[in-house]
Amino acid sequence: MAELSLPFDRWHYPVKKFYDLYDSSIEEPEDFWAEQARQLDWFRTWDRVLEWEAPFARWFVGGTLNACHICVDRHAKTWRRSKVAIYWEGEPGDVRVLSYSTLYREVNRYASVLKNCGVGTGDKVALYLPMIPELPIFMLACARIGAIHTVVFSGFSARALADRINDVGARLLVTADGGFRRGKILPLKSIADEALTMCPSVEKAIVVKRADNSVTLNPPKESWLHDLLEEADPYVEPELVESNHPLYVLYTSGTTGKPKGIVHSTGGYLVHNYVTYKWVFDIREESVYWCTADIGWVTGHSQIVYAPLAHGAATVIYEGAPDYPAIDRWWDIIEKYGVTIFYTSPTAIRTFMGHGEEMLKKHDLSTLELLGSVGESINPEAWLWFYRHIGGERCPIVDTWWQTETGGIMISPTPGIECLPLKPGSAGLAVPGVEVDVVDEAGKPAPREQRGSLVIKRPWPGMLLGIHGDPERYKKAYWSQVPGYYYTGDYAVKDGDGYFWVLGRSDEVLKVAGHRIGTAELEDAAVSHPQVAEAAVVGKTDPVKGESIVIFARLQEGIRPSADQTKSLTSHIRSVVGAVAVPDEVCFVPRLPKTRSGKVLRRVLKAVANDDSIGDVTTLEDESSVQEVIQAYQELKEGKGPGAQKNYAKGKPKKEKR
Ligand code: PRX
Repeated sequence: MAELSLPFDRWHYPVKKFYDLYDSSIEEPEDFWAEQARQLDWFRTWDRVLEWEAPFARWFVGGTLNACHICVDRHAKTWRRSKVAIYWEGEPGDVRVLSYSTLYREVNRYASVLKNCGVGTGDKVALYLPMIPELPIFMLACARIGAIHTVVFSGFSARALADRINDVGARLLVTADGGFRRGKILPLKSIADEALTMCPSVEKAIVVKRADNSVTLNPPKESWLHDLLEEADPYVEPELVESNHPLYVLYTSGTTGKPKGIVHSTGGYLVHNYVTYKWVFDIREESVYWCTADIGWVTGHSQIVYAPLAHGAATVIYEGAPDYPAIDRWWDIIEKYGVTIFYTSPTAIRTFMGHGEEMLKKHDLSTLELLGSVGESINPEAWLWFYRHIGGERCPIVDTWWQTETGGIMISPTPGIECLPLKPGSAGLAVPGVEVDVVDEAGKPAPREQRGSLVIKRPWPGMLLGIHGDPERYKKAYWSQVPGYYYTGDYAVKDGDGYFWVLGRSDEVLKVAGHRIGTAELEDAAVSHPQVAEAAVVGKTDPVKGESIVIFARLQEGIRPSADQTKSLTSHIRSVVGAVAVPDEVCFVPRLPKTRSGKVLRRVLKAVANDDSIGDVTTLEDESSVQEVIQAYQELKEGKGPGAQKNYAKGKPKKEKR
């Protein structure tokens, strides 16, 4: 896809141009990052910009700061006290508008609640909440007292919540009675109740009243937030922490069954997010910014909470589903709040594309100035649709590549510095201070236009501190594949202009509607079903979600496939992992194709599900297993095979959007 020369005159201002800034950042990285870091409020300046004991990086060592002070206090002390910090809209249509001074008052009171519950610096707090203002307020309140938050996405099950609480060792859990999703109530408190039976470390639970569904609290261990707030102090001194004090732990999927607790620092993380937010989104005082991610994922942490608030920006948060009560809900929100910067996912864009442009006609989207995309590759068709129909052919699109582990944006156009030509489908160049490349299997730079592994060549401030409690896994997962470089797990191509085109994961991780799901995690969940003997999970290309989940499973001896088995396995996975991981297809097979050493050849299963050529199968123990899989899958698709395959077409489980 050729580049587009677009009429973005506004973004060509006579400041230091992109390449000058980039080159200087790479020549003198520590000076460069120190200069960026000075834009934040430090209570003590760092002794060293970077301590790099490969593969562990520590940024701004010895510097002290407080993330809540940076995101709230420093604005509440200026004219921004009356500026809107958060425009919040609930799914039922209720609205709350929080100015920076209101946010200041609330974070102080919530910090006091946490302290009164015995939470102190370094303690871990799990947050299992819907997208309501209480979630960012609790995150900031934790940061205020130096406690470390672990947000668990509300689409995860009780078991998944318990695993995360136990791994991190949380002392306190904050949840809500329920949250709204597509007109229904998600019963968070009862899911949390089940989780807490498995979590000995949790001493106390706080419950936010949101959906007014009936719940039972078990005092004194469990309390309503509104009761605790009655006893709260109006001011809590921010705890000054060293730059490498963890701000949060966020779990993400890897190549083993156990999710990784990614630990982020305070100083490096904030510096990275502060500056990239300005470069990428060109944030201005008058901007109204909306990122549609869920705060339960890293995009929400960095791009809804920490980066916008560190800038004193006005940010929109919406609780519910994009298509509730009607398909134009998002466009209604953009019009209502006068959103100028809109950041969303390719899956969302493709979903809307499928509904046509009629829904847009009712809405005035003329306030939009800049659009963004994140989480998965955006295909050129979706990019162009977004550009034409949402952006009215006047807004640049920033396709931002990054990961939970990188903490902040790494590859993206940077209109806030200079808007270089955009290429639909490419995330563009690395941002200043960040050096990435595409390498071949030997770790040498891959020739231009050829696929290789995307690597990061030097430490960056937003870089993870490590994996919670597992330094060996950290080294193995990111630093053992390509010597000296951080391994991203993505395939990419670098084109003749040096632009990066990210092609998707090279490991056993799926990207379903932008959500990161480990196949090993799903396989562990599947085989924990009493009637499943073996399972292998693969991704299937999906025109809207990017990938969908296909499970190939062998049942225990004597159990016949049936529609009930499909249903039972599907609901088992929902209860072990959560609604986010519900499979799109379940195919029962008599045998899984294996090598002579007993390894399941997922490559073959992936080819079958995607209708690709099977390739070489000479390493298989028994090649006829491939025919069996092909036949079983065909029967599943045609709805005419034995048992489950036959009935599956009729009773196909509803696709989950969450
Ligand atoms: O495969 C890449 C894809 O999302 C992965 C990271 O997922 P997660 O940690 O959940 O963070 C997602 C939001 C930052 C990457 O390894 N990815 C993310 N952004 C893009 C992308 N793939 C292509 N283009 C992007 N812009």
